[in-house]
Amino acid sequence: MTAQSGSIESVLVENRVFPPSEATMEGARIKGMEAYQALCDEAEKDYEGFWARLARENVVWTKPFTKVLDESNAPFYKWFEDGELNASANCLDKHMGTPVENKTAIIFEADDGKVTKVTYKEMLERVSQFANALKAEGVKKGDRVIIYMPMTIEGIVAMQACARIGATHSVVFGGFSAKAVHERIVDAGAVCVITSNYQMRGGKELPLKSIVDEALAEGGTECVKSVLVFERTPTACNMVEGRDKTFSQALEGQSTVCDPVPVGAEHPLFVLYTSGSTGKPKGVQHSTGGYILWANTTMQWTFDLRPEDIFWCTADIGWVTGHTYITYGPLAAGATQVVFEGVPTYPDASRFWKMIQDHKVTIFYTAPTAIRSLIKAADSNEAVHPKNFDLSSLRILGSVGEPINPEAWMWYYKNIGGERCPIVDTFWQTETGAHMMTPLPGATPLVPGSCTLALPGITAAIVDETGNELPNGSGGILVIKRPWPSMIRTIWGDPERFKKSYFPEELQGAYLAGDGAVRSEDRGYFRITGRIDDVLNVSGHRMGTMEIESCLVAKSDLVAEAAVVGRPDDLTGEAICAFVVLKQGRPSPEEAPKIAKALRDWVAHEIGPIAKPKDIRFGDNLPKTRSGKIMRRLLRSLAKGESITQDTSTLENPAILDQLGDAY
Ligand code: WTA
Repeated sequence: MTAQSGSIESVLVENRVFPPSEATMEGARIKGMEAYQALCDEAEKDYEGFWARLARENVVWTKPFTKVLDESNAPFYKWFEDGELNASANCLDKHMGTPVENKTAIIFEADDGKVTKVTYKEMLERVSQFANALKAEGVKKGDRVIIYMPMTIEGIVAMQACARIGATHSVVFGGFSAKAVHERIVDAGAVCVITSNYQMRGGKELPLKSIVDEALAEGGTECVKSVLVFERTPTACNMVEGRDKTFSQALEGQSTVCDPVPVGAEHPLFVLYTSGSTGKPKGVQHSTGGYILWANTTMQWTFDLRPEDIFWCTADIGWVTGHTYITYGPLAAGATQVVFEGVPTYPDASRFWKMIQDHKVTIFYTAPTAIRSLIKAADSNEAVHPKNFDLSSLRILGSVGEPINPEAWMWYYKNIGGERCPIVDTFWQTETGAHMMTPLPGATPLVPGSCTLALPGITAAIVDETGNELPNGSGGILVIKRPWPSMIRTIWGDPERFKKSYFPEELQGAYLAGDGAVRSEDRGYFRITGRIDDVLNVSGHRMGTMEIESCLVAKSDLVAEAAVVGRPDDLTGEAICAFVVLKQGRPSPEEAPKIAKALRDWVAHEIGPIAKPKDIRFGDNLPKTRSGKIMRRLLRSLAKGESITQDTSTLENPAILDQLGDAY
């Protein structure tokens, strides 16, 4: 574990500061830094009292909790343990009989532009009916359900329906491969898979159900008793008699009333797989009580949500951002939200701006990669420039998933926000459940590229390798010093790995985020410098280098050895670079592009297209020390195209470096 400066190049000292305007502060929930500080002080004075207050105000309990935090078996912390609740009831039932009941919950825009609206009352009916269908399939409290769905209202309904009956969902991103689906089904021991016949993206109809079929054809999947298939398009797909049902078949005759099943606060609401520093993805297990608490609270604090807001988070439900800021947070907070099926570049790269205009979006939450690619598109084509659209409805902008470089920040601020909308640069992770560090719109002076300060109650700090806190101005390892309600509870089925990954002994009980960060001298603002482990962040998606390496090596007819590192990329933040030793030896320059393509196709098939290496370099060997250790720092330099100025005296085979110059 070494704190390095990170791979995303950005301006080191950022002097631009944007304090909140009068207009933004007007009516803000947390108004001014004094209000922020008061909440921090409250948490510091009485940590459990602070969280208990929020849990009473922002969560509906069917049985109130009497205990707040149980640290007796740290780091397996328990929050509100004897309390009972239902997550779906906290998103839907609680609004019945209030003005939210007939409010629009979801404005869904399909890939082809067709718009469908659903009210909270209708959502409750649809979720209840789906929950009854799941019960009819024999799914019960504690069972795991895999959801492999496109961005649709039905995907959200499926997640909420699981929550309603106490089943634990595990959503698999629709871009992942059959192998990824298979691994997750087996690891989770799922009893049911919810999928769609096809998905529509950028005008194309892409198969989903056939990928589930491929996954289920492999061993270890006997646990799956039923497959429910949403008919997204009229095209038929393979259906297995006795196992598969279409949504219409499953829902037929099911009542639209279904009592939510109360579960204990610690009951696993979901398991979401994410890449770690070893080959196997980790099933991040979340609780119900603490998770719903922070999903709801951060909706209100970070986005300063108001009843008339139109919220739009552009994430996919396959990622944690889609869980917390599409499926749970906005509904728990009673917001109207836009849900988008398609891609930002179809039919052209003005789709986002047009949708903001059409739906009068007030809060827009997206990823730096999307912003950077839309900047590029707008620069090269006037017609898709945001200036052609009326974006005056916007009042708050958000960024998530990767560091936002100050240049992209400024463009977003000026061209989308009209220099009027604060940007909340929200730092968090699959493991943290919801926001950890972010500016608050009505309080925090903004600094481009900085996620500023931790939310009240979140004890973020920068430490050295022995866990000692470092002063402002120095870079180090980002930790959270105390447990918080929405934190990861364990890695599904692997508590030892949980302890080792997040609570290494040398950090004295603090949670290790896996990122490096530096705090500014003047304000103590945090700036994330990038991952300090073997995880890459490509377009805001986490990819384990080991995972891609194992995948390449698994192509055993071609590959003898492989090493994967990241390099900075203007568009995707980081790019995946693979160094490959082929069994046949180094390919000729004519052969190399073909083999590189075959390897990319292989990775796309085994993991998913997002894991495809951008650069592939071939050598007769990899640069290794005399003891046989791959010298990754050299690979990182080569990947960046830097000339090697480092000490190579420990290198067994220096001549190899010359071979690795060409990227395919
Ligand atoms: C990175 C996504 C800088 C970070 C919610 C983290 C960020 C990883 C930011 C988690 C941000 C996320 N600024 N870096 N605002 N937000 N990251 O689990 O490296 O998909 O560890 O969760 O994304 O990615 P994950």
